[in-house]
Amino acid sequence: MNISIFGSGYVGLVQAAMFADVGHRVICMDIDSARVERLQNGDVPFFEPGLAQLILDGVSSGQLTFTTDAKAAVQSSDYLFICVGTPSGNNGEADLSYVLDVASSIARYMTSRKVVITKSTVPVGTTDKVHAHITEALVQQGRNIPVVTASNPEFLKEGSAVADCRSPDRIIIGTNSPQVLEELRILYQAFNRNHEKIMHMDTRSAELTKYASNALLATKISFMNEMATIAEAVGADIEYVRRGMGSDPRIGYHFIYPGCGYGGSCFPKDVRALKHLAEQHNHSASILTAVHDTNQRQKNKLAERVMSCLGNNLTGKTIALWGLSFKPNTDDMREAPSRHLMDGVWSCGGKVRAFDPQATESCREIYGERDDLVLCASKEEALKGADVLVICTEWKAFWSPDFDLIKQELSAPIVIDGRNLYNTAQMEELGIAYYGIGRGR
Ligand code: UGA
Repeated sequence: MNISIFGSGYVGLVQAAMFADVGHRVICMDIDSARVERLQNGDVPFFEPGLAQLILDGVSSGQLTFTTDAKAAVQSSDYLFICVGTPSGNNGEADLSYVLDVASSIARYMTSRKVVITKSTVPVGTTDKVHAHITEALVQQGRNIPVVTASNPEFLKEGSAVADCRSPDRIIIGTNSPQVLEELRILYQAFNRNHEKIMHMDTRSAELTKYASNALLATKISFMNEMATIAEAVGADIEYVRRGMGSDPRIGYHFIYPGCGYGGSCFPKDVRALKHLAEQHNHSASILTAVHDTNQRQKNKLAERVMSCLGNNLTGKTIALWGLSFKPNTDDMREAPSRHLMDGVWSCGGKVRAFDPQATESCREIYGERDDLVLCASKEEALKGADVLVICTEWKAFWSPDFDLIKQELSAPIVIDGRNLYNTAQMEELGIAYYGIGRGR
């Protein structure tokens, strides 16, 4: 089948590569010409395991092409996926301007029936809005061409996006058209082989499913972070509590890791957007407000701990930082806890020596060259001349470090661990002052 994908971010690019991989002919359109040029050469603009090879395979087989030409993308396919960004606008409201720009292009260039599918995470009602936007434009232009819309949210995770997209745990199709459901069933055939993964519903329920899923995952994390704060106050260790809780299958072990707050391009933005959506419908979403506020507080905890160890004036102090990305296996620093830590340290006059296995370039793009930030080539180099070590991301490379070296390099042997990677008893034995999250004992 011929498919056009609008937007070459995480969602668009991974889905485009995956559709091409199973034999569809895919055109991926983006307005960013530099990005398109890189992609035409198989050069992926961000780090995502396995994606570069998939893109290269698609480009060299001719199944996958990239373009800035919206007209060509609209006219050469029957199935048009909207995968552009929906950043946070005023009051946390999702900004739909990129989505509606694509809808305008579709209306302008379509000459035959199109199925338009929203895959971006969008507020409930957006797919209907896209439909209205296109039909109104067609009516104004006096053109009578059928257009049908569907919602098909994406659930991939950065760092395992290729595997998630290849084996989705559900394929949600929101449409009131039985014909579109059948067409999309055929389009997704290769991903729906072992057991039935397609869930059919109306567009609004499909859109809300995506927001509600992310919001519940964020809620689990904020809940655990609150428990961690209580554990610290009462002298309990949240790591024992987590294991004890997770063993109940109704609770489960997933997404109950306390830490230095959730980040990334999805949870913070989606919780804000859903809260805003609820408020627009006269419901003050108290749970979502608490989830968001708890996360904001949590992200400040590491900087506060640095201050409680070294004092409020960090002039002349250097903090070694391991982990810049918002989670392992990505170079993405959007809303990453490391940024709160660095801002906190800098605002008190301190310096940062940071190491990340993938996010050094992202960090340089965000902060440029500055005297109070040294981006290091290894975790050992980050320790040189530092006073304390702070860990923001649980990259595997940080799980079993040389503790003797840490002790030797730091002026004060203090480790502040935002991911609870180490054993408290072992650290005590080594003579390292160790502060995790929620580890009162
Ligand atoms: C998230 C969802 O997990 C995906 O299902 C969804 O498709 C995606 O958003 C999206 O909307 O596009 P992602 O943002 O890639 O995926 O990352 P997650 O693995 O969910 O992690 C989000 C944040 O939560 C990270 O900062 C991570 O460190 C934190 N986290 C996660 C915790 O603090 N504790 C946990 O137990 C789990």
